[in-house]
Amino acid sequence: MLANKVHLKVGLLVLPKSITVRFLPEDVTISAEFDELLLDCAARAGVRIPTGCLMGSCHACEVEIEGQGPVCACITPVAGDSDVTVHLIVDPLW
Ligand code: FES
Repeated sequence: MLANKVHLKVGLLVLPKSITVRFLPEDVTISAEFDELLLDCAARAGVRIPTGCLMGSCHACEVEIEGQGPVCACITPVAGDSDVTVHLIVDPLW
């Protein structure tokens, strides 16, 4: 799967230049730049993630990255060496 992608060399690491991010339950997929914030990626994809502080404190933007657990989308960059699946967490209080 990675063989089709452009990779970026950083020191001895070879990182993918872009990563496919899939947002569930909307099932929207978008190509994200490595290190792009998940919140910005979601906005480009037309997926709304609630926000509050935008500093990683209030957890209004909490989403779950498959295989990694919950993270705050406002401070979490797209990273890793494979595609990412993000589960939106619906909190009726936000
Ligand atoms: S908006 Fe508050 S933690 Fe992300």
